[in-house]
Amino acid sequence: MARVRKAIFPVGGLGTRFLPATKAMPKEMLPVVDKPLIQYAVEEARAAGIEQLIFVTGRDKTTIEDHFDHSFELENTLETRGKTAELATLREWLPPPGDVAYTRQQAPLGLGHAVWCARDLVGNEPFAVLLADDLILSKTPCLKQMIDIYPEVRGNIVAAMEVPKAHTSRYGILSPGRDDGRLVQVRGLVEKPKPDEAPSNLAVIGRYILEPAVFDHLDKKKKGAGGEIQLTDSLIPLIGQSPFHGYRFEGQRFDCGDKIGFFEAQIAFALERADLGPAAREVVKRYS
Ligand code: UTP
Repeated sequence: MARVRKAIFPVGGLGTRFLPATKAMPKEMLPVVDKPLIQYAVEEARAAGIEQLIFVTGRDKTTIEDHFDHSFELENTLETRGKTAELATLREWLPPPGDVAYTRQQAPLGLGHAVWCARDLVGNEPFAVLLADDLILSKTPCLKQMIDIYPEVRGNIVAAMEVPKAHTSRYGILSPGRDDGRLVQVRGLVEKPKPDEAPSNLAVIGRYILEPAVFDHLDKKKKGAGGEIQLTDSLIPLIGQSPFHGYRFEGQRFDCGDKIGFFEAQIAFALERADLGPAAREVVKRYS
C-alpha cells in the first residue's frame, strides 16, 4: 500500500479578510505568538512523516520561500554575537535541501485550482493537503492522527468537526453515514450550504488525505460556490468510488483566516507555552 509522503500547502489565496495586514504580506506568514501559521503547518506535516513539501504560492508570497531557507546574513550576525540558542532554533526546523518544491498559482481561482496546480509534483500517489489558516492545538498533530488511521481505511480522509448550525455556509458539510464517533463514512458533501439546506453540522476542516483520482475531476476546472474552483466539488465524485471518511480529530481548531479565530489562537497558544503561560494568564485575567 502506498504511503502518504507528499503534502500540498495551498498558500495562493488573497486573504481579503485580513486586509490591510495582508496587502503586502501573505496571510500564512501572520504569526501566532512567535511563529508564522505556515510554520505550524509544516511542522505538523513533518511530525506526520511527510517527506515532500509542496507549496502552491501566488503573488507577493516570496517571503514564504525565504522563511524556509537559510538567511546567511542573519545567521552570520547571530553567530558573531554569540546568540547560539537563537541560531539553533532558526536552523532546527529548516527542511533539508530538496524536500521543498514551489509552484505558482498564477491567479487565485480557488482552493481546488491551487491543489490542481500541484498535480505533476504529486504524481500518482496519495497525498495530504494542509490549510495553514486552520490551526490545530492537539496532543498528537492532527495530520499524524489521520496518517495513523489511514492504513485501516485508505481512500480519502478529511478532518471533520461539528460546527454551529448557523455557520454551515462557511464550510464544506458532510452527509454522514456509519459513524463510530471518530470515523464517519461520507455519503455526500456540500460546499457552503445555508443552514436549512445543510445535511448535517459536520464540517470539513483543512486537513485532507486524498487519492490522485481527484486530479481527474479538478482537470475540468468547474467553478462552484463563490465563482471559485472548489476542492469540495471534485471530492464529491470520489464518494462511492473508493472509501471516503470524515475523521473527528482530537484537538482544538482555530480559524485563523478569521479575526476572532486568530485572536483566540493567540490566547490559547500563549497559555499553552511553558515560558509564557503564567504571564499570559495574568494578562487575560486583567481583561475578563
Ligand atoms: P480562503 O478560503 O481562506 O481564502 O482559502 P483566502 O483568499 O486565503 O482568504 P479570504 O477569504 O480572502 O480572507 C483557504 C486556503 O486556500 C488557499 C488560501 O491561501 C488558504 O490557505 N487558497 C485559496 C489558494 O491557495 N488559492 C486560492 O485561489 C484560494
